[in-house]
Amino acid sequence: MTRRQASVTRHGSGSFTLSGVLNSKSKSSPLLSIFIVLLGAILLVIYAFGGSGLLGGKKDVVNRIEGDFSCTFEVPNAIPVLKNAYGGSMKNVLHVGPESCSVVSKLLSEGETEAWGVEPYEIEDVDRKCKALVQKGIVRVADIKFPLPYREKSFSHVVVSDALDYLSPKYLNKTLPDLARVSADGIIIFTGYPGQRRAKVAELSKFGRPAKMRTSSWWKQFFTDTSIEENESASKNFEQAASKMSYKPTCQIFHLSSYH
Ligand SMILES: *[C@@H]1O[C@H](CO)[C@@H](O)[C@H](O)[C@H]1NC(C)=O
Ligand SMILES: *[C@@H]1O[C@H](CO)[C@@H](O)[C@H](O)[C@H]1NC(C)=O
Repeated sequence: MTRRQASVTRHGSGSFTLSGVLNSKSKSSPLLSIFIVLLGAILLVIYAFGGSGLLGGKKDVVNRIEGDFSCTFEVPNAIPVLKNAYGGSMKNVLHVGPESCSVVSKLLSEGETEAWGVEPYEIEDVDRKCKALVQKGIVRVADIKFPLPYREKSFSHVVVSDALDYLSPKYLNKTLPDLARVSADGIIIFTGYPGQRRAKVAELSKFGRPAKMRTSSWWKQFFTDTSIEENESASKNFEQAASKMSYKPTCQIFHLSSYH
């Protein structure tokens, strides 16, 4: 009697190649796929019932998911607009923020762009694709309160979403200049509007501090204080591309220059 075995292919942890990421997609065995789909369905059911019990309605569950990291969910939609606005200069992009795997996957799927990610918090319940990105070192978990593990100007652009909203001014003073340090041609910040989200109790323990949404004038003052300049022409290009492509951001988006 023969037994079928699910074989799992492991890539060498040192390989950084884009083709490696793309190949890993096609290597799932049918058995494993079925198991994952089943597991996903079970988890969904548990989540939906657990959620409705706690929050009193499915609608609240949906709102809660969308409300978690609203600006990060916006980044994939904004990527084509960013590419349009920045032209060919978006060569290698670092995304910093929660759900970094999905942003990096989206960037990679666009082609012509290399992408890396920093996930500021522990990664939980990730899918296989995300695990592969982490194993290859393309997405890393790193506390952004400390200097990022990259050399100066390692990336053409840094895109940061939501993550800064959890930092107090003391840490922001260090983190934003560090984002400028690792980028060569610009930083793009996606951040919520004040009053857009309320901190949830569950988030408090995970992030140590509730998200604080700052006004546009607060940010502008902060950029001035930390000697980081807004890139007016990039902002203008982005607005033009956005209206051309009928993209309406629901978050504040700032375009900053890197240090020179
Ligand atoms: C952050 O840096 C600015 C400018 O250097 C300074 O005025 C401000 O006091 C700093 N804030 C904190 C909390 O360290
Ligand atoms: C501002 O952004 C544009 C792309 O829109 C870029 O060509 C230019 O070099 C940037 N300027 C600075 C000072 O970073």
